[in-house]
Amino acid sequence: MNKASILVCRAVFPDIVDRLREHFNVETNEADVVWSRDELIAHLQGKAGVFITGTQPIDGALLDACPSLKAVCSMAVGYNNVDVPACTARGVLVSNAPDVLTETTADFGFALMMATARRISESEHFLRSGQWTKWSVDAFAGSDVHSATLGVLGMGRIGQAIARRGALGFGMKVIYHNRSKLDAFVEAELGARYVDKEELLRQSDHLVIVVPYSAASHHLVGAAELALMKPTATLVNIARGGIVDDAALAQALADKRIAAAGLDVFEGEPTVHPALLQVPNVVLTPHIASASLPTRRAMANLAVDNLIAALGAGPNAGRPSTALNPEVLGSIG
Ligand code: 8YV
Repeated sequence: MNKASILVCRAVFPDIVDRLREHFNVETNEADVVWSRDELIAHLQGKAGVFITGTQPIDGALLDACPSLKAVCSMAVGYNNVDVPACTARGVLVSNAPDVLTETTADFGFALMMATARRISESEHFLRSGQWTKWSVDAFAGSDVHSATLGVLGMGRIGQAIARRGALGFGMKVIYHNRSKLDAFVEAELGARYVDKEELLRQSDHLVIVVPYSAASHHLVGAAELALMKPTATLVNIARGGIVDDAALAQALADKRIAAAGLDVFEGEPTVHPALLQVPNVVLTPHIASASLPTRRAMANLAVDNLIAALGAGPNAGRPSTALNPEVLGSIG
C-alpha cells in the first residue's frame, strides 16, 4: 500500500519524527528554516498532513492552494495561527496540544512574575556589568509576591494552575476575570474571586495574562487599562503578543506608571518593540514558557499521535485525541 506523504514544518526531535516514518513518507525541515507562506505552500504540495507549531499561518487561501491536505496537527495549545472554520469548511482536521504543557507553562508564568516583582534580571545585569561596588539598603528593593493580590486575566487551564500556585503555595489572594465565571467548587479550591476587568486591573498587585489571542483580545491591555493599575503593580504576559499593546506598555514602564513587567510573548515576535529593549524594569524572554524538555517532547508526541490517528493509521485510527473540529473526521478518506 502506498504511504501517504506528510510535512513536518520545523526541526523536531528526530526520534519523535521517526514515529511518523512508520506510517508515512515524511518530509522534514532539519535546517529549521522559517519558510515564507509561498515556500510552505510549495512544500505542502502532495501532502496529506502537516505537523505545525504555533507560528505557521494556515488559512483558507493556503488550503485552496494545497488541495491534498487533510490534517493540520499543531504542537501548540494556542491555535490563533489556524483558521479552524476554513479548515472545517474544506474537511481538514485540525488538532492542538492542550493539557500536556499546563503545569510547565504555569511554572514559567509564576517564575516570570517572581523575577519581575523581585527585579532579578535588572539586578543581574547590574552585577554582570560590574556596577556592584557596595551593598545598599534599598538596592533593587521590589515588591512581595507572598500574600499579595494575584490577578489572573483568562482563567483557563493555565490560569487556574497559576492561581493554584499563588493561593496554595504563596498565600496570595486570587482574583480573576474570564469570559465565564468558574464553578463555585473550582473557585473555592483556588480561593479565587471573579471580578470585572476594571476591578482586576485596579486591585491586582501582580497581573498575569493568560487569555487566548483573537480579534476580541487584541490590545485587551493598552494605555487606558495600564492607567487603571497600581503604580506598584507588575504585569506578566505569557499568552500571545498583541494582547498587550507593547508600545503603550513600554511607555507605562518608562513613566513608572506601573512598577515592572515580564514578557514571554511580543507583537510581531521574534522582533521586539525597540522601546521595550530600552526600559530596565522589564524581564524579556523569547517565548519559552512551555520549554522544559519533557514538555516540549510531550507536545510534539501529542501532535504526532494526532497526525497518525487523523490520517487513519495506528491504534487510534480515526480518533485524534485533541481534535478541534472532530466533525470532519468522517469525511477524511
Ligand atoms: C509553544 C505556545 O512553545 O503552545 C502554545 O500555544 O505558545 C507555546 O507553548 C509554541 O507555540 C509551540 O509551537
